[in-house]
Amino acid sequence: MKKIAVLTSGGDAPGMNACIRAIVRSGEMNGIEVIGINNGYQGLIDGSFQQLSHKSVENIIQLGGTILKTSRCKEFQTKTGLNKALKNIKKEKFDALITIGGDGTLHGAIELMESGIGVVAIPSTIDNDLAYTDLTIGFDTAVNTVMQMLGNIKETSASHNRICVVEVMGRTSGNIALMAGTASGAEIILVPEVKFNERALFDKIRLSTSVGEKCVLIVVAEGVSSAQEVANLVKNKMNIDAKSVDIGYIQRGGSPTATDRILATKMGAFAIEEIKNGKLGIAIRLNKNKISSICLNDVFKEKSNIDKNLLKTNDILSI
Ligand code: F6P
Repeated sequence: MKKIAVLTSGGDAPGMNACIRAIVRSGEMNGIEVIGINNGYQGLIDGSFQQLSHKSVENIIQLGGTILKTSRCKEFQTKTGLNKALKNIKKEKFDALITIGGDGTLHGAIELMESGIGVVAIPSTIDNDLAYTDLTIGFDTAVNTVMQMLGNIKETSASHNRICVVEVMGRTSGNIALMAGTASGAEIILVPEVKFNERALFDKIRLSTSVGEKCVLIVVAEGVSSAQEVANLVKNKMNIDAKSVDIGYIQRGGSPTATDRILATKMGAFAIEEIKNGKLGIAIRLNKNKISSICLNDVFKEKSNIDKNLLKTNDILSI
């Protein structure tokens, strides 16, 4: 292996830069040249590359976002787009490609592998919704960011005895809502994995206020509903004032936590180890506290789910 490429794709996640740094520097140590692909799979189609070096990844370990930029590339999902990408990989003589991203990125990586490209995929998404790995790069930072925001919101809401509905990211996954909500003592956590039940919501609000809760904090994952819709429901049907906040992109940006920087560093360095040993067509993962790899074909064998026991525990403890 002499020359490899790396891209970040899909939603950015804190720790992606730490991972790029680890790949570039471990690569250099092993005599492997690392090329950066700009804008995710779009850059592979456009032939938009940049030379990476020990120097160019200096001082990025602490940065959120991705220095390579990212995209959600529809063109790559077409035959024409894929062929353009394959042509560029051959032209540039990349011996292997490392992808950093979430579930859409993994689907792209599998497409490339099936077209004969040596791919190594690294899991990075704030959603932590990939069942094959215990943790994805970016999740810990997002949870800590949301927890901090929820703490601020709780203080002001408690001062006014208000109900506050806070919307967090997670179109199909309630992981951020569940973890940040639990860590913040949220009274109600609404996740896409559990069918929304209006009656249960109203009952829990009544129960919380009846035991003298000064504020009722409701955390809702975007896949369930918007904060505004839930707040309107409470206002209109219960006749109680409720405020709504959408945390939005604040939770996806920001400097990565130590956990994410270390996970990203370990996964990036391990990807190079695997490539050096000729192991391709794999996905890196954290499994029972150890970094390892599995066959790319197996990453979607299990469906991701949330910790329903934790949801139940929080429900009991937050009354
Ligand atoms: O990165 C994952 C994620 O944050 C999801 O939780 C969310 O549904 C989606 O990305 C939104 O991203 P965008 O606005 O960039 O499409």
